[in-house]
Amino acid sequence: MGKPLNLNQNQTAIDAILAAGWIRDVQWFSEIDSTNSAARRVTGNHEGNSALLPTLFVADRQTTGRGRSQRVWWSPEGCLMLTLALSGQTLPSRPEEWSQLALLSGMAVANTVAQFVEPNSVQLKWPNDVYVLEKKIAGVLIESDTKVWLVGIGLNVNMNWSAAPKEIARQATCMRSASGCGVEVPVVLVELMEELHRTLEGWRRGEFAWQAEWQQRCLLTGRVVHIRISDNREIIGRCEGIDACGRLIVRDEHGVHQLTAGEVLAWH
Ligand code: BTN
Repeated sequence: MGKPLNLNQNQTAIDAILAAGWIRDVQWFSEIDSTNSAARRVTGNHEGNSALLPTLFVADRQTTGRGRSQRVWWSPEGCLMLTLALSGQTLPSRPEEWSQLALLSGMAVANTVAQFVEPNSVQLKWPNDVYVLEKKIAGVLIESDTKVWLVGIGLNVNMNWSAAPKEIARQATCMRSASGCGVEVPVVLVELMEELHRTLEGWRRGEFAWQAEWQQRCLLTGRVVHIRISDNREIIGRCEGIDACGRLIVRDEHGVHQLTAGEVLAWH
């Protein structure tokens, strides 16, 4: 028999999120294919009506959770899975800054996790993975059709590792494992939404030097990194952190690379 849904706690979280006045609508599914896919279907029907945005989509379970680079996201209960659908008006006015949304979202997740575990143990792996003590705790999947931006977040809160695929159990952690005590998913959700609001508002207004904060949590700075930068190009070099635009700086024997995209394959 499945665990009964704690509707009271979910409703309390929804009420708190709506009362904060930023989110216009919350859609919470006990099971869905993917919150990013659901958000895409629903916002596709908005026909440009951004009055309904930001909308938050949350699921207790996903049947086909999606990760970056066409990977699958393991999506059982105990993982906080959400997609925040934002209109372009929520972003800074300069389009060249929009690619930073991934880094800012990851930073908001990291700062939320840091409220529950040893704060200095929480790090960011460029561009937007969150790690605790070298194990992945959260990932972010950004999708956009330029009118609507979807920020998909998977954050491991209370995972049952005995049910996990071996590779995931070896490489990942969750808030309960990292903190030593159970944390309720709806409680984390409310904190995360506050943090996302604060972070994205500060970014939109150009009000805070987020790069310094991001840099402090950078997992890769000073380390040798192996990065796939396109289908047929990989580089290995020493990471020197991020620049003011959020690009990853990597130095190898050919010079300094400022990477706007790429997949970090390994680091040591
Ligand atoms: C990654 O690290 O590869 C990104 C993972 C993003 C997973 C989240 S879970 C909620 C949302 N819905 C999805 O299908 N994916 C994102």
